[in-house]
Amino acid sequence: MRLLIVGTMEGPIAVAGKIAHQRGAKVSHIDTISGAMNVLRSGQGIDLVMVDVRCDVADLINQIKLERINVPTIACGIGNDADAAVRAIKAGAKEYIPLPPDAELIAAVLQAVTEESHNIIAGDPAMKAVIDMAEKVAPSAASVLITGESGTGKEVLARHIHRKSNRASGNFVAVNCAAIPDNLLESELFGHEKGAFTGAVARRLGKFEEANGGTLLLDEMSEMDMRLQAKLLRALQEREIDRVGGNQPIKVDVRIIATSNRNMEEEVRNKRFREDLYFRLNVMSIRIPTLRERPLDIKPLSEFFAGKFAEANGLSAKTISPEAMQALQSHHWRGNVRELENTMHRAVLMAPDSIIGPDAVVLTGQSLNNSVASGGMANTAQAIMNAGAPGGSLVGKTVADVERDLIIDTLQHCLGNRTHAATILGISIRTLRNKLKEYTDKGVNIPMPGETGRANIG
Ligand SMILES: Nc1ncnc2c1ncn2[C@@H]1O[C@H](COP(=O)(O)OP(=O)(O)OP(=O)(O)O)[C@@H](O)[C@H]1O
Ligand SMILES: [Mg+2]
Repeated sequence: MRLLIVGTMEGPIAVAGKIAHQRGAKVSHIDTISGAMNVLRSGQGIDLVMVDVRCDVADLINQIKLERINVPTIACGIGNDADAAVRAIKAGAKEYIPLPPDAELIAAVLQAVTEESHNIIAGDPAMKAVIDMAEKVAPSAASVLITGESGTGKEVLARHIHRKSNRASGNFVAVNCAAIPDNLLESELFGHEKGAFTGAVARRLGKFEEANGGTLLLDEMSEMDMRLQAKLLRALQEREIDRVGGNQPIKVDVRIIATSNRNMEEEVRNKRFREDLYFRLNVMSIRIPTLRERPLDIKPLSEFFAGKFAEANGLSAKTISPEAMQALQSHHWRGNVRELENTMHRAVLMAPDSIIGPDAVVLTGQSLNNSVASGGMANTAQAIMNAGAPGGSLVGKTVADVERDLIIDTLQHCLGNRTHAATILGISIRTLRNKLKEYTDKGVNIPMPGETGRANIG
């Protein structure tokens, strides 16, 4: 995770940088917007830009857009300066962080931007076989196509292949082809020359050049349009690329790993994906089984996530009770490992002591044996989840009432910890803070961090 701080590096913003560094981010800093643009063009792989509101945030975000660079920007400023925050968000900043920085908030923002997890956990023979195969192909330069349902761990496996390859000391660069609009993707992948389009005021290196000597992950590559597929094919065949607006091919030495959660053969049959490109990418093909097909992975994964999130939230280690494990093992896991990971994150935050019991495990949808996975009315988490069920006691309340009660109850449960509450509620910290401010303005008592007493609503 590479963070670029833009603005004068002093006082609270320097502290924010330090916190990010302690949380494992590589932090670089530049004073001016023009300097920031130079860094962003130079192929250093910045994942996140944090800009001081005293800089012209709108100008920076506008330039990033005009030059078709794909990087999230967050703004920060001293105190809760509402005007500055609103201006920054309107300009396109993803979040506003009030300074002096809250260590937890910085950690949450970094986590939201990059899901950085490098360990690959496996206990089931089906998954161990997949990892064996991946490690066998890792040292070669062959392209690899990884398929599998959403959340099965395609990116995790791609990183693992990179780590086990001779290119491990080079960069691992990931591009999500589905998340970037077609007209920006070309520039993102291949870079551009000055003057290639309005807004291209300088040369910019693309992801291929950034990944030179390393690995380029083309995530969800089945979503790429036909024209770009042709350009990509050329890059793979000739091992050279053309920057947009460039007239000099550039040699690149890049190992390609592509992922897709579609049936690629069907895409080819339906003429949505070039057959020649498919054969190029599919030198080696690995399908990751769904979590349902590898039940022996559930226990080690759950334990791994319990440990990871306890540590990330500064909590002492928690063990999973046999009943909770039983519930986890009989769930259907439509969202695969990602769903399990989120479930365990919530469970760690909900569990009141060192044991994660069934009460803390919130499962939605059906379990495998069609029975309700866990506890009765004593299950706080389940009760919160079920609060919106039709026919419940909520009829007669407004949506705003229910939302307020849910937010305050959750906050209460988390002893006033905003980061934890926002995670459980599935909303951003900014949204939570705005809601709380609204309630405070209306005279509602809000649980403060460390508070255990009941909130006084009304
Ligand atoms: N074997 C594993 N060990 C540890 N963590 C894993 C494993 N598999 C998946 N995860 C975690 O689950 C989440 C989803 O994994 P990943 O992003 O690799 O899935 P994906 O198949 O690329 O999903 P999508 O199709 O939605 O892009 C990540 O947070 C990842 O860290
Ligand atoms: Mg993915």
